[in-house]
Amino acid sequence: DWNPDNVIAEQVERIRAQVGSARVISALSGGVDSAVSTALVHEAVGDQLTAVFVDHGLLRKGEREQVQQDYVAATGVRLVTIDAADTFLAALAGVTDPEEKRKIIGREFIRAFEQAERDLVAEAAASGEKVQFLVQGTLYPDVVESGGGTGTANIKSHHNVGGLPEDLQFELVEPLRTLFKDEVRAIGRELGLPEAIVGRQPFPGPGLGIRIVGEVTRDRLELLREADAIARAELTAAGLDGEIWQCPVVLLADVRSVGVQGDGRTYGHPIVLRPVSSEDAMTADWTRLPYDVLAKISNRITNEVREVNRVVLDVTSKPPGTIEWE
Ligand code: XMP
Repeated sequence: DWNPDNVIAEQVERIRAQVGSARVISALSGGVDSAVSTALVHEAVGDQLTAVFVDHGLLRKGEREQVQQDYVAATGVRLVTIDAADTFLAALAGVTDPEEKRKIIGREFIRAFEQAERDLVAEAAASGEKVQFLVQGTLYPDVVESGGGTGTANIKSHHNVGGLPEDLQFELVEPLRTLFKDEVRAIGRELGLPEAIVGRQPFPGPGLGIRIVGEVTRDRLELLREADAIARAELTAAGLDGEIWQCPVVLLADVRSVGVQGDGRTYGHPIVLRPVSSEDAMTADWTRLPYDVLAKISNRITNEVREVNRVVLDVTSKPPGTIEWE
Protein backbone atom coordinates (compact mmCIF):
# COMPACT_ATOMS: atom_id res chain seq x y z
CA ASP A 1 0.00 0.00 0.00
CA TRP A 2 1.34 3.40 -0.98
CA ASN A 3 1.72 5.63 2.02
CA PRO A 4 3.38 9.07 2.17
CA ASP A 5 4.85 8.40 5.62
CA ASN A 6 6.74 5.35 4.39
CA VAL A 7 8.07 7.17 1.36
CA ILE A 8 9.25 10.06 3.52
CA ALA A 9 11.00 7.75 5.99
CA GLU A 10 12.63 5.80 3.19
CA GLN A 11 13.80 8.89 1.32
CA VAL A 12 15.13 10.57 4.44
CA GLU A 13 17.28 7.52 5.09
CA ARG A 14 18.53 7.41 1.50
CA ILE A 15 19.33 11.11 1.41
CA ARG A 16 21.32 10.87 4.65
CA ALA A 17 23.27 7.92 3.30
CA GLN A 18 24.02 9.73 0.04
CA VAL A 19 24.91 13.14 1.44
CA GLY A 20 26.82 12.26 4.61
CA SER A 21 28.11 15.48 6.15
CA ALA A 22 28.51 17.47 2.91
CA ARG A 23 26.56 20.58 2.07
CA VAL A 24 23.65 20.70 -0.34
CA ILE A 25 22.09 23.40 -2.53
CA SER A 26 18.54 23.48 -3.82
CA ALA A 27 16.68 25.86 -6.12
CA LEU A 28 13.13 26.79 -5.13
CA SER A 29 10.92 27.98 -7.97
CA GLY A 30 7.65 28.36 -6.10
CA GLY A 31 6.41 25.19 -7.79
CA VAL A 32 5.42 21.87 -6.27
CA ASP A 33 8.37 19.67 -7.27
CA SER A 34 11.15 21.92 -6.03
CA ALA A 35 9.20 22.68 -2.85
CA VAL A 36 8.70 19.02 -1.96
CA SER A 37 12.17 17.80 -2.95
CA THR A 38 13.73 20.63 -0.94
CA ALA A 39 11.53 19.89 2.08
CA LEU A 40 12.49 16.20 1.95
CA VAL A 41 16.18 16.99 1.85
CA HIS A 42 15.77 19.47 4.66
CA GLU A 43 13.97 16.83 6.70
CA ALA A 44 16.98 14.57 6.14
CA VAL A 45 19.96 16.89 6.60
CA GLY A 46 18.62 20.11 8.14
CA ASP A 47 20.96 23.08 7.85
CA GLN A 48 23.45 21.27 5.64
CA LEU A 49 20.96 22.39 3.00
CA THR A 50 20.62 25.92 1.63
CA ALA A 51 17.70 26.72 -0.63
CA VAL A 52 18.06 29.44 -3.26
CA PHE A 53 15.12 31.39 -4.62
CA VAL A 54 15.67 33.64 -7.63
CA ASP A 55 13.13 36.45 -7.79
CA HIS A 56 13.24 37.35 -11.48
CA GLY A 57 10.50 39.93 -11.17
CA LEU A 58 8.20 37.80 -13.37
CA LEU A 59 6.43 36.11 -10.47
CA ARG A 60 2.77 36.27 -9.68
CA LYS A 61 1.36 38.34 -6.85
CA GLY A 62 2.24 36.89 -3.46
CA GLU A 63 4.55 34.16 -4.80
CA ARG A 64 7.69 35.54 -3.28
CA GLU A 65 6.02 35.91 0.11
CA GLN A 66 4.66 32.38 -0.19
CA VAL A 67 8.19 31.05 -0.47
CA GLN A 68 9.96 33.48 1.85
CA GLN A 69 7.39 33.44 4.62
CA ASP A 70 4.98 30.50 4.40
CA TYR A 71 7.38 27.91 3.06
CA VAL A 72 10.18 28.90 5.41
CA ALA A 73 7.77 28.91 8.36
CA ALA A 74 6.54 25.43 7.43
CA THR A 75 9.95 23.87 6.87
CA GLY A 76 12.53 25.96 8.73
CA VAL A 77 14.76 25.75 5.67
CA ARG A 78 17.70 28.12 5.35
CA LEU A 79 16.75 30.33 2.39
CA VAL A 80 18.74 32.73 0.26
CA THR A 81 16.66 35.02 -1.98
CA ILE A 82 18.30 36.58 -5.01
CA ASP A 83 16.78 39.90 -6.08
CA ALA A 84 17.33 39.78 -9.80
CA ALA A 85 14.32 41.69 -11.14
CA ASP A 86 16.37 44.67 -12.34
CA THR A 87 18.81 42.46 -14.21
CA PHE A 88 16.05 40.47 -15.89
CA LEU A 89 14.10 43.58 -16.89
CA ALA A 90 17.20 45.23 -18.32
CA ALA A 91 17.98 42.10 -20.33
CA LEU A 92 14.40 41.93 -21.62
CA ALA A 93 14.20 45.58 -22.65
CA GLY A 94 13.03 45.95 -26.24
CA VAL A 95 12.50 42.20 -26.74
CA THR A 96 9.17 41.03 -28.12
CA ASP A 97 9.91 37.63 -29.71
CA PRO A 98 8.65 34.82 -27.45
CA GLU A 99 11.57 32.44 -27.98
CA GLU A 100 14.03 35.28 -27.55
CA LYS A 101 12.36 36.12 -24.22
CA ARG A 102 12.65 32.50 -23.12
CA LYS A 103 16.33 32.39 -24.03
CA ILE A 104 17.08 35.57 -22.15
CA ILE A 105 15.13 34.54 -19.07
CA GLY A 106 16.79 31.11 -19.06
CA ARG A 107 20.24 32.61 -19.45
CA GLU A 108 19.74 35.21 -16.73
CA PHE A 109 18.29 32.60 -14.42
CA ILE A 110 21.35 30.42 -14.81
CA ARG A 111 23.66 33.39 -14.26
CA ALA A 112 21.87 34.39 -11.08
CA PHE A 113 21.80 30.84 -9.78
CA GLU A 114 25.46 30.20 -10.58
CA GLN A 115 26.42 33.33 -8.69
CA ALA A 116 24.47 32.07 -5.69
CA GLU A 117 26.17 28.68 -5.99
CA ARG A 118 29.59 30.33 -6.07
CA ASP A 119 28.80 32.37 -2.98
CA LEU A 120 27.66 29.27 -1.11
CA VAL A 121 30.71 27.27 -2.19
CA ALA A 122 32.94 30.08 -0.93
CA GLU A 123 31.02 30.39 2.33
CA ALA A 124 31.30 26.64 2.94
CA ALA A 125 35.01 26.63 2.09
CA ALA A 126 35.59 29.40 4.64
CA SER A 127 34.40 27.04 7.37
CA GLY A 128 36.30 24.08 5.94
CA GLU A 129 33.23 22.48 4.37
CA LYS A 130 32.32 21.42 0.89
CA VAL A 131 29.19 21.85 -1.20
CA GLN A 132 28.88 18.55 -2.98
CA PHE A 133 25.22 18.08 -3.88
CA LEU A 134 22.43 19.74 -5.80
CA VAL A 135 18.76 18.86 -5.27
CA GLN A 136 16.58 18.20 -8.32
CA GLY A 137 12.82 17.79 -8.27
CA THR A 138 12.88 15.21 -11.08
CA LEU A 139 9.68 13.14 -11.17
CA TYR A 140 9.16 9.66 -12.57
CA PRO A 141 7.52 10.94 -15.79
CA ASP A 142 10.56 13.24 -16.31
CA VAL A 143 12.79 10.21 -16.03
CA VAL A 144 10.77 8.16 -18.49
CA GLU A 145 10.35 10.95 -20.99
CA SER A 146 10.46 14.69 -20.59
CA GLY A 147 6.95 15.72 -21.64
CA GLY A 148 5.04 18.88 -20.83
CA GLY A 149 6.65 22.29 -20.68
CA THR A 150 9.98 23.19 -22.15
CA GLY A 151 11.42 24.10 -18.77
CA THR A 152 13.38 27.14 -19.81
CA ALA A 153 14.22 28.42 -16.37
CA ASN A 154 15.30 25.01 -15.31
CA ILE A 155 18.40 24.01 -13.42
CA LYS A 156 18.09 20.43 -14.54
CA SER A 157 18.53 20.96 -18.24
CA HIS A 158 21.34 23.37 -17.45
CA HIS A 159 23.21 20.90 -15.32
CA ASN A 160 22.69 18.21 -17.89
CA VAL A 161 24.06 20.13 -20.83
CA GLY A 162 27.55 20.00 -19.38
CA GLY A 163 29.98 22.84 -19.91
CA LEU A 164 29.69 23.78 -16.26
CA PRO A 165 32.66 25.39 -14.57
CA GLU A 166 34.55 22.87 -12.45
CA ASP A 167 33.76 24.53 -9.11
CA LEU A 168 30.05 24.15 -9.81
CA GLN A 169 29.91 20.46 -10.60
CA PHE A 170 27.70 18.76 -8.06
CA GLU A 171 26.21 15.34 -7.65
CA LEU A 172 22.42 15.25 -7.89
CA VAL A 173 20.01 14.36 -5.11
CA GLU A 174 16.68 13.39 -6.68
CA PRO A 175 14.26 12.19 -4.00
CA LEU A 176 11.17 12.31 -6.27
CA ARG A 177 12.54 10.11 -9.06
CA THR A 178 10.11 7.26 -8.49
CA LEU A 179 7.04 9.41 -7.90
CA PHE A 180 4.11 10.82 -9.82
CA LYS A 181 2.75 14.33 -9.34
CA ASP A 182 -0.19 13.38 -7.13
CA GLU A 183 2.16 11.36 -4.90
CA VAL A 184 4.48 14.34 -4.66
CA ARG A 185 1.54 16.49 -3.57
CA ALA A 186 0.56 13.92 -0.94
CA ILE A 187 4.10 13.95 0.44
CA GLY A 188 4.14 17.74 0.46
CA ARG A 189 0.92 17.80 2.47
CA GLU A 190 2.28 15.21 4.88
CA LEU A 191 5.35 17.41 5.36
CA GLY A 192 3.02 20.31 6.23
CA LEU A 193 3.78 22.51 3.21
CA PRO A 194 1.36 25.38 2.44
CA GLU A 195 -1.60 24.30 0.29
CA ALA A 196 -1.01 27.28 -2.02
CA ILE A 197 2.29 25.68 -3.02
CA VAL A 198 1.36 22.00 -2.89
CA GLY A 199 -1.87 22.48 -4.86
CA ARG A 200 -0.48 24.99 -7.30
CA GLN A 201 -1.49 24.73 -10.94
CA PRO A 202 1.26 24.59 -13.57
CA PHE A 203 3.02 27.90 -14.10
CA PRO A 204 5.77 28.33 -16.69
CA GLY A 205 9.37 28.96 -15.63
CA PRO A 206 9.57 32.22 -17.64
CA GLY A 207 6.56 33.36 -15.62
CA LEU A 208 4.64 36.50 -16.53
CA GLY A 209 7.39 37.29 -19.04
CA ILE A 210 5.62 35.14 -21.64
CA ARG A 211 2.16 36.38 -20.66
CA ILE A 212 2.78 39.91 -21.85
CA VAL A 213 2.39 39.88 -25.61
CA GLY A 214 4.87 42.61 -26.44
CA GLU A 215 7.78 44.07 -24.52
CA VAL A 216 8.05 43.23 -20.83
CA THR A 217 8.22 46.32 -18.64
CA ARG A 218 7.83 46.94 -14.93
CA ASP A 219 4.51 48.79 -15.35
CA ARG A 220 3.05 46.09 -17.56
CA LEU A 221 4.11 43.40 -15.11
CA GLU A 222 2.46 45.31 -12.29
CA LEU A 223 -0.78 45.56 -14.22
CA LEU A 224 -0.80 41.91 -15.29
CA ARG A 225 0.04 40.77 -11.75
CA GLU A 226 -3.07 42.54 -10.44
CA ALA A 227 -5.34 41.15 -13.15
CA ASP A 228 -3.96 37.64 -12.66
CA ALA A 229 -4.46 37.82 -8.90
CA ILE A 230 -8.09 38.87 -9.36
CA ALA A 231 -8.81 36.04 -11.81
CA ARG A 232 -7.14 33.46 -9.56
CA ALA A 233 -8.97 34.68 -6.46
CA GLU A 234 -12.37 34.56 -8.16
CA LEU A 235 -11.81 31.12 -9.69
CA THR A 236 -10.77 29.78 -6.31
CA ALA A 237 -13.70 31.48 -4.56
CA ALA A 238 -16.08 29.87 -7.08
CA GLY A 239 -14.61 26.45 -6.30
CA LEU A 240 -13.39 25.96 -9.85
CA ASP A 241 -9.72 25.09 -9.25
CA GLY A 242 -10.41 21.39 -9.63
CA GLU A 243 -11.96 21.85 -13.06
CA ILE A 244 -9.21 24.00 -14.45
CA TRP A 245 -5.78 22.71 -15.44
CA GLN A 246 -4.46 26.25 -15.52
CA CYS A 247 -5.71 29.68 -16.47
CA PRO A 248 -3.16 31.95 -18.09
CA VAL A 249 -4.11 35.61 -17.83
CA VAL A 250 -2.52 37.44 -20.73
CA LEU A 251 -1.88 41.13 -21.37
CA LEU A 252 -2.05 42.28 -24.98
CA ALA A 253 0.33 45.11 -24.37
CA ASP A 254 0.52 46.42 -27.92
CA VAL A 255 -3.23 46.37 -28.51
CA ARG A 256 -5.36 49.33 -27.49
CA SER A 257 -9.06 49.82 -27.75
CA VAL A 258 -11.48 52.57 -26.87
CA GLY A 259 -13.53 52.25 -23.74
CA VAL A 260 -15.54 54.36 -21.36
CA GLN A 261 -14.55 54.18 -17.72
CA GLY A 262 -15.46 56.48 -14.88
CA ASP A 263 -15.83 59.98 -16.22
CA GLY A 264 -14.55 59.56 -19.73
CA ARG A 265 -13.28 57.70 -22.71
CA THR A 266 -10.18 55.60 -22.29
CA TYR A 267 -7.75 53.99 -24.65
CA GLY A 268 -6.63 50.92 -22.77
CA HIS A 269 -5.35 47.37 -23.09
CA PRO A 270 -7.26 44.07 -23.26
CA ILE A 271 -6.69 41.22 -20.84
CA VAL A 272 -7.27 37.69 -22.12
CA LEU A 273 -8.54 34.88 -19.89
CA ARG A 274 -7.34 31.47 -21.05
CA PRO A 275 -8.91 28.83 -18.76
CA VAL A 276 -8.13 25.31 -20.00
CA SER A 277 -8.99 21.78 -19.00
CA SER A 278 -6.35 19.15 -19.71
CA GLU A 279 -4.80 15.89 -18.54
CA ASP A 280 -1.20 16.56 -19.44
CA ALA A 281 -0.98 19.93 -21.27
CA MET A 282 -0.29 18.16 -24.56
CA THR A 283 -3.89 18.74 -25.62
CA ALA A 284 -6.45 20.95 -23.92
CA ASP A 285 -9.97 22.24 -24.22
CA TRP A 286 -11.19 25.66 -23.14
CA THR A 287 -13.05 25.41 -19.87
CA ARG A 288 -16.72 26.31 -19.98
CA LEU A 289 -16.71 28.65 -17.01
CA PRO A 290 -20.02 29.85 -15.59
CA TYR A 291 -21.03 33.26 -17.00
CA ASP A 292 -21.49 34.78 -13.57
CA VAL A 293 -17.90 33.95 -12.64
CA LEU A 294 -16.64 35.44 -15.91
CA ALA A 295 -18.75 38.54 -15.29
CA LYS A 296 -17.31 38.95 -11.80
CA ILE A 297 -13.73 38.62 -13.03
CA SER A 298 -14.35 41.04 -15.88
CA ASN A 299 -16.00 43.64 -13.64
CA ARG A 300 -13.31 43.46 -11.04
CA ILE A 301 -10.40 43.66 -13.48
CA THR A 302 -11.83 46.62 -15.39
CA ASN A 303 -12.74 48.40 -12.15
CA GLU A 304 -9.56 47.69 -10.23
CA VAL A 305 -6.85 47.66 -12.85
CA ARG A 306 -6.30 51.02 -14.42
CA GLU A 307 -5.25 50.76 -18.07
CA VAL A 308 -7.43 47.69 -18.71
CA ASN A 309 -10.78 48.48 -20.33
CA ARG A 310 -11.67 45.12 -21.86
CA VAL A 311 -11.57 41.48 -20.76
CA VAL A 312 -11.84 38.80 -23.45
CA LEU A 313 -12.19 35.03 -23.26
CA ASP A 314 -10.08 32.64 -25.33
CA VAL A 315 -12.34 29.87 -26.66
CA THR A 316 -9.71 27.91 -28.59
CA SER A 317 -8.74 24.31 -27.87
CA LYS A 318 -5.18 22.95 -28.14
CA PRO A 319 -4.51 22.21 -30.92
CA PRO A 320 -4.69 24.55 -32.74
CA GLY A 321 -3.95 27.08 -30.00
CA THR A 322 -1.24 26.45 -27.45
CA ILE A 323 -2.13 26.98 -23.80
CA GLU A 324 0.14 29.99 -23.46
CA TRP A 325 -0.07 32.87 -25.93
CA GLU A 326 3.68 32.93 -26.39
P1 XMP B 1 1.81 25.36 -24.38
O1 XMP B 1 1.67 26.85 -24.38
O2 XMP B 1 2.99 24.89 -25.18
O3 XMP B 1 2.11 24.94 -22.88
O4 XMP B 1 0.54 24.66 -24.77
C1 XMP B 1 2.10 23.61 -22.40
C2 XMP B 1 2.46 23.65 -20.93
O5 XMP B 1 3.81 24.07 -20.75
C3 XMP B 1 3.88 25.27 -20.00
N1 XMP B 1 4.92 26.10 -20.63
C4 XMP B 1 6.14 26.26 -20.12
N2 XMP B 1 6.70 25.80 -18.98
N3 XMP B 1 8.70 26.92 -19.54
C5 XMP B 1 7.97 26.14 -18.70
O6 XMP B 1 8.50 25.75 -17.65
C6 XMP B 1 8.21 27.41 -20.71
O7 XMP B 1 8.89 28.12 -21.45
C7 XMP B 1 6.85 27.07 -21.00
N4 XMP B 1 6.03 27.34 -22.04
C8 XMP B 1 4.86 26.74 -21.78
C9 XMP B 1 2.49 25.88 -20.09
O8 XMP B 1 2.22 26.72 -18.98
C10 XMP B 1 1.63 24.64 -20.14
O9 XMP B 1 1.45 24.10 -18.83
